[in-house]
Formats: sequence, structure tokens, C-alpha cells
Amino acid sequence: MRSLEDLLGTGVSGTHVLVRADLNVPLDNSTGEVLITDDGRIQASLPTIQALTEAGGRVVVAAHLGRPKGRPDPAFSLAPVAQRLGELLGASVAMAADVVGAGARHAVQALADGQVAMLENVRFDGRETNKDDEERGRLADDLAGLAQAYVGDAFGAVHRKHASVYDVAQRLPHYAGGLVLREVEVLRRLVEDPERPYVVVLGGSKVSDKLGVIEALLPTVDRLLIGGGMCFTFLAAQGHEVGGSLLEEQQVDICRRLLADAGDRIVLPVDIACAESVVADARVTVVAAEAIPAGLKGLDIGPRTVQLFTEALDGAKTVFWNGPMGVFEVAGFAGGTKGVGKAVAAVAGLSVVGGGDSAAAVRTLGLDESAYGHISTGGGASLEYLEGKTLPGLAALAD
Ligand code: 3PG
Repeated sequence: MRSLEDLLGTGVSGTHVLVRADLNVPLDNSTGEVLITDDGRIQASLPTIQALTEAGGRVVVAAHLGRPKGRPDPAFSLAPVAQRLGELLGASVAMAADVVGAGARHAVQALADGQVAMLENVRFDGRETNKDDEERGRLADDLAGLAQAYVGDAFGAVHRKHASVYDVAQRLPHYAGGLVLREVEVLRRLVEDPERPYVVVLGGSKVSDKLGVIEALLPTVDRLLIGGGMCFTFLAAQGHEVGGSLLEEQQVDICRRLLADAGDRIVLPVDIACAESVVADARVTVVAAEAIPAGLKGLDIGPRTVQLFTEALDGAKTVFWNGPMGVFEVAGFAGGTKGVGKAVAAVAGLSVVGGGDSAAAVRTLGLDESAYGHISTGGGASLEYLEGKTLPGLAALAD
């Protein structure tokens, strides 16, 4: 892979450089004003953008936000993100009115050396995510027409075969950004001979999203701790009633097989914090994991489970944690994620937080970011990397 450093070495002053960043940040629209609740991905994208502007590059940032349906939707505009990026850079970022139309061309042409423009959400153009190579190729042609070089720095999106992540790299001299290189360097250490004991903590709501990575990790890990909404399908596979908790019936058999294969290496919760519904003032009841009453939903792991997971993490030399242990956004159900987050932070070996919600949880729950070895910006991307899949956005840069 040619790197950002290689590009800088060629001299970028006056050159338009298209940077694909992952600026898919969580937003809160509830007050009528759009608030970015966690700007971690914008912060993580800064070094690459800054290195280019400092060298006099004319930086064109392409990114997605949310999952709009292939047409403009103001709720998913990148304008608030451009504003925040500008604040962090200490320089205004020109916001293009569209993705590759007249508005984008105008914003790009108006750039002076060292300035930054942001294209509108690339997913406002249906060709971005199209399965058809030619359709995506046409958008990639338009994007490539805006710049003379491409820097792939959207680690969180490298598992997507999308026009701005994959196809455009084939149309311009392409380089891996600093963030992508750093992420790959750390994740590679988890795949290639991790120091033992190696403990993985998985949470999040959908077990179906994690089956691939569980299958891939089981032969390697010493312990796999499972919490979050996904634990209920495993508890059901052990024959327990899970009340109104999340349950993916179709996955119960697979979970049963995984439990049988893994023996005691898979560790499940022993108690669960439940309520009738996910509301801020919910009455929280902690019950044994095998006795969730019919009228209650499991919304977090309980304190005995936090203790159990903390003990399982003690002495680990390598830890990977992906997915919250409960509905951490609601105070009554944040205890499990906070407790496990602290236990992962206390690990003396390499601790890696695998992106998405768990990275946001670390920051919003006030956990000490510096206590972790690495906080990935990629949720799905880091999981697919650990699964050993070919990631289109990396393959395109490696060409
Ligand atoms: C993420 O949030 O994991 C990345 O930005 C990818 O987003 P996507 O799952 O909508 O493709």
C-alpha cells in the first residue's frame, strides 16, 4: 500500500486530493438543533486532513452519514459535520451543495492551497451503494474528476464495496491515509499470534451480525464473554426463558452448537437488569439470567456479571471489546457497559475497543480513553477484519 507519506513526498501543493473519511457520527435531533453526540470519528480523521492542508493540498472530503435512501435528505446532511470539522481544524470548511454536481464542482474549484471542502453525503447519490459495478463506476468517474489523487482514510467503511471507498481508488493514484494504516497495524496484532490469555468481549443487539466473527474467533480465543442484546439468544439456546428480551429465534440452533463447541470458553451473563420498557425512569429489577420473568425485557447485564467478566479479564494479555453490554444511552442500563469498560481499561496488555457504539460508549460514559491501547473507528469493519474477510476498501488501496 502506498501511504499518505508517499503522497506528501511527491508534493501536494496546489493538488486537489480527494480524501474518503468515515465521518458517520451519532446525531441527536431531538431538540430541533442537530447535535453531534460523539465527534470521535471527526477527531480521528483530522491528522490526515491536516497533513495535506499543511502541505498546501486542496482537500476534498467525501463521506457518508447514516443510511439515506440514495437521494438528498436534509436529516442526513453533512453540513453539521463540516462545521465541526472546521472548528477542529481552526479554518472554515466549504460545504458543497451536492455530491458531484455543479455545487460540488464549484466548491472544489474555489479551493485555494491548504483549504478544505466537504462534498454532501455520498449516499445522497444512489450509485454509491449500487451493487452494479457500472453504476458505481459512473459515480466513481465523477468523483475522480474532482481531484488528482485519492486518499482512503475511512477505516470504518472499508468493508463496504461502495463507489467512494472502492471504485474511485481504481481511477486515481491512491494512497492509504494515516488512520487506515494505524487501524490495520493494531488489528493485525490481534489476528497474527495474539499474546495470551486472549479475551474477547462481544455485545450489541444482533447476534446474527456477530456469528461470523464468533466462528472465526472461537479457535483462537481463551475466553469469549457475551453480553448486550445478543446474549439472550445464547441464554435461550441454553433452554432459559428470556421474557420480552431481544431474541433471534432463527439463530438459537447455531448458538447451541457454538456453546457445545466452545465448552467453557464462552462465558454468558449470570444476572440481568430488566425493566418493562426502555425509559429513563424505568423501574429496574435485577434477576438471575435463567429467570427473566415474562413481562420484563433484559436491558443490561447485572452487577454479578460485571464482576464475573472483570475476573475473566484479569490477567489478560490481549483484549478485544466490541459492542455495549446494555442500552447504555439510558442511565439505568449503563452500568454493565461502564463496568466492563473499566475492566477492559484496567488490562495491562493490549486492549482494543472495536469501534461504533462501544467507542462512543467509552467517550459518552466518561471512561478514560487513554487507558485503552487502541479505540478503533470501525465497528463492522474491525469485526470483518478479525473475521479474515477481504475488505474492499483495503484491497483497492493495496493494488
Ligand atoms: C459504521 O458506522 O460502522 C460505518 O460508518 C459504516 O456505516 P454503514 O454500516 O451504514 O455502512
